[in-house]
Amino acid sequence: STEEQQTEDYLFKIVLIGDSAVGKSNLLARFARNEFYPNSKSTIGVEFQTQKMDIDGKEVKAQIWDTAGQERFRAVTSAYYRGAVGALLVYDISRRQTFDSIGRWLNELHTHSDMNVVTILVGNKSDLKDAREVPTREGKALAEAQGLFFMETSALDSSNVNAAFQTVVKEIY
Ligand code: GTP
Ligand code: MG
Repeated sequence: STEEQQTEDYLFKIVLIGDSAVGKSNLLARFARNEFYPNSKSTIGVEFQTQKMDIDGKEVKAQIWDTAGQERFRAVTSAYYRGAVGALLVYDISRRQTFDSIGRWLNELHTHSDMNVVTILVGNKSDLKDAREVPTREGKALAEAQGLFFMETSALDSSNVNAAFQTVVKEIY
């Protein structure tokens, strides 16, 4: 039908990037299947999920790509980024080191994809309040300086997970 043909027009590739164990795969599992894995293993290679979303009453499909944060488990970098129109750049609010890596991930993103790929900086594991090493204002400040959206999320308690993906897809759309 005409309606089906129209929905085909809206398939957006979105990539998840960030250090190992920041929670990229669990953000995707929470978003796409409402699942959480307390003991998930490192991703090996590339996985992706296509998720239907409702944006202003229109059906949009987001194809969300997930790969390993660790270099040795990653697939070919250029193929991973090719065609991406959105990115979630993820760190773990309880591990400062993962926040310090953000500059490197931004460089890689900008090397391999279009400069105007819609990007959100995501401070994940907001549920780990007592272990926080990166204050919210630091995340916000970095995002502002780099022209990125910003949100803190928890794949564990679901907080802001849908909102983070929605923010990116809405802006692309
Ligand atoms: P790589 O695939 O190695 O790049 O890691 P990843 O970024 O995909 O991390 P993954 O989703 O596998 O999560 C790593 C660990 O953090 C797992 O033990 C998860 O259960 C845990 N985790 C993920 N998200 C959260 C969260 O929001 N809060 C808490 N407390 N733990 C989380
Ligand atoms: Mg993973």
